[in-house]
Parts: sequence; C-alpha cells; structure tokens
Amino acid sequence: MTGITEKLPYLQETGIDAIWLSPIYKSPMYDFGYDITDYRQIQDEYGTMADFENLLNVSKSLGVRVVLDFVPNHTGNESQWFNRSIAGEAPYNEYYVWADGLNATYDNGTFYTKPPSNWVSNFRKSAWEFNEVRGQYYLHQFVIGQPDLNYRSDSLQEEMKNVLRFWLDKGVSGFRVDAVNKLYEADPRNYGGVYPDEPLSGIAGLGPDDYEYLIHVYTENLNETYDVVYNWRDLLDEYITTQGEYDDKIMMTETYADLPLMIKYYGTKTRNGSIPFNFSFLEDITMNSTAWEIKTVIDQWMTYMPSGRVANWVNGNHDKSRVATRQGVDRIDAMNMLALILPGVAVTYQGEEIGMIDGYVSWNDTKDPWGCNTDDPINYVLKSRDPERTPYQWDSSAHAGFSNTTGATWLPVADNYLTLNLAAQMANQKSHYHFYKDVVTNRKTPAIQEGDLDTRALSESLLVVTRLLPGEAGMLGVVNLASEAQTIDLTSLRLLPSDLEVVASGVDCALEKGATLTKTSIPVSGHCALLFRSGVVSYGGAASTHYLSYPLMLLALASYTIIRTNFS
Ligand code: NOJ
Repeated sequence: MTGITEKLPYLQETGIDAIWLSPIYKSPMYDFGYDITDYRQIQDEYGTMADFENLLNVSKSLGVRVVLDFVPNHTGNESQWFNRSIAGEAPYNEYYVWADGLNATYDNGTFYTKPPSNWVSNFRKSAWEFNEVRGQYYLHQFVIGQPDLNYRSDSLQEEMKNVLRFWLDKGVSGFRVDAVNKLYEADPRNYGGVYPDEPLSGIAGLGPDDYEYLIHVYTENLNETYDVVYNWRDLLDEYITTQGEYDDKIMMTETYADLPLMIKYYGTKTRNGSIPFNFSFLEDITMNSTAWEIKTVIDQWMTYMPSGRVANWVNGNHDKSRVATRQGVDRIDAMNMLALILPGVAVTYQGEEIGMIDGYVSWNDTKDPWGCNTDDPINYVLKSRDPERTPYQWDSSAHAGFSNTTGATWLPVADNYLTLNLAAQMANQKSHYHFYKDVVTNRKTPAIQEGDLDTRALSESLLVVTRLLPGEAGMLGVVNLASEAQTIDLTSLRLLPSDLEVVASGVDCALEKGATLTKTSIPVSGHCALLFRSGVVSYGGAASTHYLSYPLMLLALASYTIIRTNFS
C-alpha cells in the first residue's frame, strides 16, 4: 500500500517544497473528486480527517507544504446544498444557476421544454439539465453531476470563504483554484430576462454538442470574476498575519484563456491577486517547437507579467498529456530543467520527474467523463484524460508498487512500468530522476532564486538560459534540441563569467557532473540538457524586481493516482 504520508520523505529528499493534492473531499467521483458533496469532509477511501491532519503534521515537520484543490465553480449534484436548492430552501435556493425552460408545452399530458440557451458543457452536450422536482433547468459547465454555483448570491460567496477558512485553520499552505474563469455567466437581467445564446465559432466539422462549436462570450472570463479572486487573496493574507511563522499562503488559479485575461488574475495596482497558472509549456510547445519558439514562449509570459509578481511554469497536470508523450522522450530533461531554472514557481505533475509516458487505456476501461461523453469507441482518445492519470510507477513489483494486496488499480498501469519506474531510476545515476533532483538542488542557489534572466536561441536547436546575480555564482542552462552533437561558444554572453562547472547532466549528455570548461567551447551532445555553475558574477547595478522568485517547487499529485486506499 502506498500512501502520501509514507512517501513524504521521498518528496522531501527530491527537494519538493510543496504538494498540491487534487480534491480529497467527499465525492461520488463522477469527475474524480471535482464533484464535491461536502467541502469539509474527506472522501472515505483516502482516509479520515485524522489521517489528513497527520499528513499535514508530518509534512510540516519535513518542510513540505500542503496545498489543496479549491473547487469553487460547482459542487456535486448529491450535495446537501444542491438538494436544498432543489427544494427551494433559502438561502440555498439561490446557490445554483437555475432557469426556466423555453417553449414549455403540454402534449397529451407530457411536459416538453427546451434548455434556456444553446450553452454547451466543457465535456460536450447541453450545459443545462432539467430537474423535475424544481421544474427548472440547472447549469453545469462540466458533467451533469457538477451543478454550477451562483456567485451573484452573497450568501454563497460567504459560504465559500468559510470553506477556505476551514482548511486554513487546519494549517494548509494555500490553494489551487479550479476552473476559476467560469465563476460567472451573463446576467439575464441585462438580456431581457433570458440567458443569451453564444455565437457560433464556425469551426468546420463540429456540431452543437461540441464545446468548441460556440464562442464562450457569456460563460467565461466575465469581469466580476477578478474581484472574487482578489477577495480570496485578502482572506489568505489575513492568515499570513495570524499564522505567520510557517509560510505564505499561495493561491494559484486555473484558467485557460488569452494571456491578457490571465494576467489580470495577478492583481491591480491596489489589489493583490493570485498566481495564474502559466500553461504555455503545455499548450504552446510541441515536439517540433524550435529553440526560437521556446524562447518566444518564455519571453511572452515574462513580458506580460506585471513587475513584482511571480512567474510560474507548468510542466504537466492531470488534464494534459505527459511531457514525454506531448513533447517527446528526447525533451524530458530539457523541459524539466527549463521549468526549474526559470524565475518563479515550477509545477511538476507526479511522474514527470521520471519521464512517465501516457498509459494506454482501452474504451472499455475508460473512466474519464470527457472520454466517455464522446460516445465514440475510436476517437475517445482525443478527449480522454485517463492516459495521463494511470497510476504512479514506483517500482517493478506488481501494479508498479501502486496497489494494495487486493491487486486492483483504478486504471491500468502503463505497460512500461517494469523498466520505467522510480526505483530503477534511483538506482541509476544517469536517469531523469537524478537529473531532476540535481537541478532542484541547484534551484536553491541565489542566482536561480533572484538572478536576472536572459534567454537566447543560438540557432533553431540551441537554447541557452542564464540567471545571474551580482556577487554570486551564475547559473547557465543549455539545451540541444537536435539529435547531433554541437559545440557552442558563449563569448557573446558578456556578463557570464568564463569558468563553468557542470552541476546537472541529462540522460543524453556525454559531459558529466563535475566537468569544468570555459564558455568559449562547450560540447553538447544531441538531445542533451546541461546545467552549469559559473564563477562569481561581477557586474553591479540595482536588482530587478521582475525576476524575483517564489522559492517554491510544487508537485501536483492527483490523489486518485498517487494513493491507493488512504493517506497513510
Ligand atoms: C479542471 C480540473 O483540473 C479538471 O480535472 C476538472 O475536470 C475540471 N476543472 C472540472 O472541475
């Protein structure tokens, strides 16, 4: 049996500062915990509240912070709040987004009505579901079992703040906030009392059941959202003052949107906001991206980010294909290193540190509602998130060391676990794991924590990142995306001291840790990622607040894939 508490020493040894747990609350698991029936209770198979408090205590003693998933957009349809809302009991009656159907008619004693608008669920098909008891439709931007909450209700807003307080009082270090840009929908009061239809995207080959069929002008990124986030930030800040000693309280918000909309989550001149997840590594970098393109992706975030805020780099999550699958096994070390040496928070999804690959999950084994809702035994793979959710590969024993003795795992373990597993990589110095750990160790250096950032694409395939802080050793990351070895001359990086020592060497590199050389001639093997420490940087001048780091390495753990039966 593999529990998180049992594995905390491994996480600490790897240099992880914080873990983010996907939802651990009471849930029928229609969307793997994102359909919550009680925000203050733990789902049975994960353990008890006492088990969770023990996890918190042990993690604190090891210096690993615990960040929880806060799911504010929707609850589960089996929650007491929803039942009371159906029954019309105040204040719950207004907790959800309810609307009358259109064109209501009786025909031969049967009642017919149409959904209030053409809105489509993110997981396909109408976003409205009729409830016989209340005689109205409720909105669900995700599965039918996830009714959307109504942020135009003041009681609901207060209720959600109390949920945050409940977990902050227990001592958690902050929250990852789910689907935050969906909190508000167009207000019918501004549209003659109806929910307006969304315009068609015109994308060929799609039908009215497909999410991308519409342009989501009325169901996401509404302006009111930002104030809610800033208010939550204020609430978290109160806990920094009162609990003080241990930590900041982090808030990272999940939004897939255009950059200018994302950036607004950071706050304004007068209000503090969240750290919006930067998904550009997941969305904008492919296995064919050149060094020029990767540099552009990095620079774009740094350019848009307001000064004095904290950048972040997400290299995976439970909703996206794994790095090795998305960008190719040749780029695992490169992508891990980039996320870890750039300014700000680095977010690793469990298993990326060993380069896990998406598993195969047949149609019959598919559990993800997004996959199932396609109703398509062939093309479900285009939507299903199960492949990146197969169990963590601890070792080569049965079920990759994941399962308990009953032998069941919730999704099939990926075939390659016999060779691709943590135990094997720990035993091999030349492994993704050891490279990752070496880079994490060097992440704690002053240059990476606070140094100025410079990114250069020397050619289509050579990317160079420097972090330099006056009076400290500099740090230099070099990536060769090509399969051929190349020798590079970094004379043009005038501020970089000439003497270099390799401190982390990827699995494809011939240069080993400890090798010393000068910046005029650096041999880099094909597909190699190298991290160097330079001599002490001697230029002066005032520090830039733009490259301030948040000393955090966050490991995203999907509760259902990392633990089998409980927290212990
Ligand atoms: C985003 C979560 O990451 C995803 O797993 C979930 O299905 C949706 N939000 C709905 O909560």
